[in-house]
Amino acid sequence: MMPFRRVLVAAGLLACLAAPVRAQEPFRIGLILPMTGPFQGTGRQIEAAVKLYMAQHGDVVAGRKVSVVLRDDAGVADTSRRLAQELVVRDHVQVLAGFGLTPLAMAVAPIATQAKVPEVVMVAATSVITEKSPFIVRVAQVLPQPAVIAADWALKNGIRKVVSVVSDYGPGYDAEKWFNDRFKAGGGQVLAALRVPLANPDFAPFLQRVKDSNPDAMFVFVPAGVGNIFAKQFVERGLDKSGIRFIATGDVTDDDTLNGMGDAMLGVVSAGPYSAAHPSAVNKAFVTAFKAANGGMRPNFIAVFGYDGMAAIYQALEKTKGNSDGAALVEAMKGMAWESPRGPMRIDPQTRDVIHNIYMRKVERVDGELYNVEFETFPDVKDPAKAPK
Ligand code: PHB
Repeated sequence: MMPFRRVLVAAGLLACLAAPVRAQEPFRIGLILPMTGPFQGTGRQIEAAVKLYMAQHGDVVAGRKVSVVLRDDAGVADTSRRLAQELVVRDHVQVLAGFGLTPLAMAVAPIATQAKVPEVVMVAATSVITEKSPFIVRVAQVLPQPAVIAADWALKNGIRKVVSVVSDYGPGYDAEKWFNDRFKAGGGQVLAALRVPLANPDFAPFLQRVKDSNPDAMFVFVPAGVGNIFAKQFVERGLDKSGIRFIATGDVTDDDTLNGMGDAMLGVVSAGPYSAAHPSAVNKAFVTAFKAANGGMRPNFIAVFGYDGMAAIYQALEKTKGNSDGAALVEAMKGMAWESPRGPMRIDPQTRDVIHNIYMRKVERVDGELYNVEFETFPDVKDPAKAPK
């Protein structure tokens, strides 16, 4: 038998030998997205953005080869959970990313905690998500951010009576609460707060109620991929000719589908973190490269969130010098700041949530296409739901 001291020395040697070998090991990102089903547009935009980021920044970070393992959850939470489990246990991914809807991000939170693997949230936008695991970092948005800014704008622009219309789940409740509370606190009146089912939405009866209430404006939140269904029924019900103003979060006038929604959208005012028309050099280069790589497809806010998710992961791995320990990566992301196509952004070191500009925008025709043209900037907006009271 080996004397105890020799065993220790041998173990030490092994550890020394193992270290450089470990550094060469590939770094795997498990990307879980709805690639099929009603939210496949989300998957398509993020997949394209992730590919673009890697084409531009290479696939080696701090000496480690980076690879992405893409899985389709079709927007079903049980599937996201099962895929996350498999990605961690079988594929040995060191980061989980994606999460196209709130319930999907929530379903994976316990796995992130248990496996000590960072969960980089690229879409899901209900405020409470980041509190579900200390391993969650969000690069997307939080609905209370645009909601309060839209309410302030409405109050300042002569709107006194509103009806809110939101999708009946987490981010819809956040949008409804933060818009309506702010609007009422400023002296406005909320005539009705309507919630429309998320799956296969039929907006017709809700739009009829909006019409019957005759408010100055309706405030709308639906997630990316649903705005075009809303717009179609909005026109069919004649709401575009009713004189009721249409204000929204940026999710509704999504750059991916805005052109297809037609001229009825002209003049719609929304609050959001990203427009394809954002006039910065970084964004112009991003939009040009994204379109060139994707047959002319226009990037929307979700593509930017995916791109920024990769930026956060790459920079974290750079900062840890290739150490993929989950806690170290999350620590590296806290307080991280960079210039995104959306403008300056950073990760709040306290909440691990996104801080970014929120822009007021109006749908206009520019060079023959519909765009959300920014007209006012609110810099460095934190999640108001997490702001110290
Ligand atoms: C969400 O499910 O949290 C979500 C998805 C898409 C959006 C906004 C929120 O555009």
